Amino acid sequence: MLRVLGIESSCDETAIAIVDEARTIHAERIRSQWEEHRPYGGVVPEIAARAHIECVDRLVAETMEEAALSFSDLDAIAATGGPGLIGGVIVGVMTAKAIASVHKKPLIMINHLEGHALTARLTDDVSFPYLLLLVSGGHCQILIVEGVGSYRLLGKTRDDALGEAFDKTAKMLGLPYPGGPSVERLAGSGDSSRFPLPRPLAGKPGCDFSFSGLKNAVRMEIEALGTLNEQDKADMCAAFQAAAADVLEERITHAIALSMQSCPGLSTLVVAGGVAANQMLKMRLQAVTIRHGWKLVVPSPALCTDNGAMIAWAGLERFRLGHRDNFDFEPRARWPLAAG
Ligand code: KG4
Ligand code: ZN
Repeated sequence: MLRVLGIESSCDETAIAIVDEARTIHAERIRSQWEEHRPYGGVVPEIAARAHIECVDRLVAETMEEAALSFSDLDAIAATGGPGLIGGVIVGVMTAKAIASVHKKPLIMINHLEGHALTARLTDDVSFPYLLLLVSGGHCQILIVEGVGSYRLLGKTRDDALGEAFDKTAKMLGLPYPGGPSVERLAGSGDSSRFPLPRPLAGKPGCDFSFSGLKNAVRMEIEALGTLNEQDKADMCAAFQAAAADVLEERITHAIALSMQSCPGLSTLVVAGGVAANQMLKMRLQAVTIRHGWKLVVPSPALCTDNGAMIAWAGLERFRLGHRDNFDFEPRARWPLAAG
């Protein structure tokens, strides 16, 4: 039974996990840096890198102890090799290299986006091919996942990622970081029809996204109001979330049509990345898939946001296909999953 240790440190979570071939997560540890970044309303790269260094060794030790395993029981060591904040990526890559070198284990460097992309195979045993909506703080794209390492890009954002738009909306409203969960919570008591926000690219063909116009419209509405009370904020959150949902629904409808043409038999939509934790967006996407006779798979919120299990699992998938990385692998700030 293959077992892989995974290390994730590309943004504001230091996360470690051990998974096995039977799709069991043996143990995991996650340390979020929200408290450190909250005063700044966003992730500060230098603070993030230092926070990763301070806890990574302890989290690895705790994960091993909870799993009651020794390093000799592991088959490979995987870590996020990029893309992400380079200081954090360096911490994870160096930690993985050190463990792999001391214990003479294979090293596997994972593209963070591939970690998100393959999580549905860990949680739901989804088989290839499937359509993937990847929506996180740094990325917003639609891909056909044909196999491990085989991704076909259908569309991506031309400006902001959707999670980024959630975070910026929250910041403008003075809501706590990270913004996505704050916006979703307040939206629950808001009236989505009060502010007429745009649906960027609506009516245009294709699967690209754009969120900067939506973000600017939110800013202008906020400025026009001057001071905002709690109801104003809730209504703005609801309006923003409704606009985001309409955009996702339209773009995914296009993607389903495109993929049914180019890849007959494809009938599963997987949603991954932090924004997939949003229950309202999930319900809207559920309706689209049902309309097309498709299946929707969304991992649990804890496995949608950054975590160690997704990196360990992607490492395991690569390991069993014979993939190995060299110790001269250099951490990558940029690393597209698919060309386009
Ligand atoms: O995948 P992730 O943990 O980190 C990146 O790789 O970016 O995604 C984080 C993003 C943040 O922008 C956060 O605000 C957003 O996911 N997010 C949400 C929710 N939970 C997290 N956005 C909307 N609704 C949520 N419930
Ligand atoms: Zn992520």
